[in-house]
Amino acid sequence: MCKVSCALFTGVSVNSGYKKVGRKVLSKAIPGSSMQDGSAKRGELNHAGKGRGQKRRPLLCFLAFLVSLTCLTVAFAFNETHLDKTKLPKGCISCHKGHGKRATMMLSEPKDGLCFKCHGSVKQGELGEARTDIYSALIKRSNHPVLQTSQYHVPGERLPERSSSAPRHVACVDCHDPHLTTKDRPLNVARGYAGKQLRPKEVRKEYMVCYLCHSDSANLPPNEHNVAQDFTTSNASFHPIEAPGRNSRVPSLSAPLTPGSTITCSDCHGNDDNYGPKGPHGSNYDHLLKANYTMQSGPESISAYELCYMCHNRNSILNDQSFKSHKRHILYATASCFACHASHGSKVYGNLINFDANIVFPNSLGQLNFVQLLPGKPRCFLSCHVGATQYEHSMKGSQYYVNRTPLPGW
Ligand code: HEC
Ligand code: HEC
Ligand code: HEC
Ligand code: HEC
Ligand code: HEC
Ligand code: HEC
Ligand code: HEC
Repeated sequence: MCKVSCALFTGVSVNSGYKKVGRKVLSKAIPGSSMQDGSAKRGELNHAGKGRGQKRRPLLCFLAFLVSLTCLTVAFAFNETHLDKTKLPKGCISCHKGHGKRATMMLSEPKDGLCFKCHGSVKQGELGEARTDIYSALIKRSNHPVLQTSQYHVPGERLPERSSSAPRHVACVDCHDPHLTTKDRPLNVARGYAGKQLRPKEVRKEYMVCYLCHSDSANLPPNEHNVAQDFTTSNASFHPIEAPGRNSRVPSLSAPLTPGSTITCSDCHGNDDNYGPKGPHGSNYDHLLKANYTMQSGPESISAYELCYMCHNRNSILNDQSFKSHKRHILYATASCFACHASHGSKVYGNLINFDANIVFPNSLGQLNFVQLLPGKPRCFLSCHVGATQYEHSMKGSQYYVNRTPLPGW
């Protein structure tokens, strides 16, 4: 009975969602959540076998829901946080209730108000209240506009949006599946995108969730672009999100990172408060960054480029272990990393080189180019404006010059 109802309810075939564990039959209303690979790491997602986006039959759903509630009053311990009765003693009815609020999946509160019952800033004495206050993160200066736009989320919707007039939105349940989330895998979800819609078991990496809204969406705001194009592995260089990077010589990397490492979007985008809840909910730094990143010219300090120094050793950079002129540019000419480096990836140049178009222009010969010759001693052809100072980089004969100064041996 339970089996059938749960299957009806989720639209998944009867056998797929149930596991026999000893004498207990775990009535998994929400099927699929077995570990895909051993490397249980945050940011790497789990397999989840839920069929979304299917046509729903409201009456059947409702009946089935009642039955599954009955099934689940028999308390079994689930690995999934919200289905674990030791954490949420009220079980399903912590969130679902009778017919529920209008136009919801029979939820006791509409949309994200539900999550704030337990993840809010004011403790409401809810049974099973969480330690993590997400509300306070979402009201920081730079944030995911959950509070402003979650009402546009529609259960079963397809992302990325295909129409430029679709209301752009983000809700808790766009990134988290309330049934599948686990302590190690808060992003255990069924939906993802990587140039195409992914089947639930293909959604294994965090970026596949982010690409639902930050790649091919037809309704990107004017100041944003398709982030997937930055990280695509056909680029000349990229921060290693989708795959390990192209450069095998990155002496600045701080342990345990190596050139073979991959990182996640939320390694850079997240809460600026180390003690607050993790995740890209909100930050006091622009672009929802975890740490400060000064993108304009100015004096170097640990805090000016704190974001980069989380993973790249400051001494290595300022001692010119790779680029033989890092120190000259960063310390003496007060150029930001952003003057020369892309944060995500560079289509045409290696070493994440991508000049800041606000301060870098063609030189007097009309050249704007980066040429890698000897490691550590590349040549740039350009004109760079830092404050009132202008630096012209060009060749005269076979000699490389900065303004009128020749650089022998470069
Ligand atoms: C932490 C809150 C929470 C708990 C606990 C919870 N649910 Fe849900 N459930 C939700 C939310 C939120 C949605 C709507 C998801 C959306 O809008 O995409 C939902 C949707 C559903 C759906 C519709 C299909 C889907 O996944 O979109 C079913 C079926 C369901 N829940 C069953 C259950 C059952 C059975 C239990 C108890 C085992 C349960 N839920 C426990 C929050 C919860
Ligand atoms: C009835 C209380 C309750 C409600 C409602 C609730 N949660 Fe939770 N949630 C918890 C508890 C308890 C934890 C365990 C960790 C903690 O204390 O923060 C948790 C943990 C989480 C985690 C961290 C990963 C994990 O599995 O431990 C995520 C993500 C999460 N919840 C998302 C949501 C979302 C999204 C909603 C709304 C759909 C929601 N929660 C509603 C109680 C709740
Ligand atoms: C359901 C859609 C959705 C998903 C999924 C999503 N985002 Fe967003 N994101 C938004 C919206 C909406 C904004 C507000 C600005 C805008 O419209 O792009 C935003 C803003 C941001 C910003 C701030 C941009 C700026 O310049 O201020 C960052 C950074 C970001 N998201 C990163 C991520 C990461 C990392 C993930 C994956 C963990 C992710 N997003 C998943 C919808 C989404
Ligand atoms: C190494 C750190 C780092 C990683 C990893 C990273 N970002 Fe960013 N991201 C930045 C910085 C710095 C900026 C702001 C400066 C800029 O635009 O280059 C930014 C800007 C953004 C913006 C706003 C600008 C725009 O043009 O849209 C979005 C959205 C974004 N990132 C999403 C993502 C997503 C999604 C991922 C993972 C697929 C990701 N980022 C991975 C550092 C990072
Ligand atoms: C844009 C995607 C996105 C949205 C929207 C989002 N989260 Fe998260 N959340 C994440 C990611 C990514 C992590 C995990 C980061 C990590 O492990 O470093 C996370 C982590 C969490 C955690 C665990 C925090 C910890 O310190 O362990 C909780 C709880 C949580 N989210 C709840 C929520 C709730 C509630 C909402 C809506 C109010 C929400 N999230 C909206 C992406 C999102
Ligand atoms: C004037 C342009 C310029 C500025 C400013 C600059 N870089 Fe670089 N950077 C380069 C060039 C060119 C290379 C490649 C040198 C080579 O290997 O040929 C490089 C290489 C690197 C590398 C890869 C090798 C290594 O050292 O591990 C890292 C990381 C790096 N830079 C980080 C930074 C950071 C962080 C900042 C700011 C604090 C910064 N760079 C500022 C031009 C610049
Ligand atoms: C979360 C860790 C992390 C952060 C934060 C980070 N990086 Fe990196 N970065 C890496 C890793 C890992 C590699 C190695 C990729 C490879 O081997 O090609 C790398 C490589 C690089 C390279 C060399 C790429 C190449 O192909 O030669 C440059 C340049 C660079 N980072 C600059 C920056 C700058 C500038 C910042 C700050 C905006 C920054 N990184 C922040 C992890 C990080």
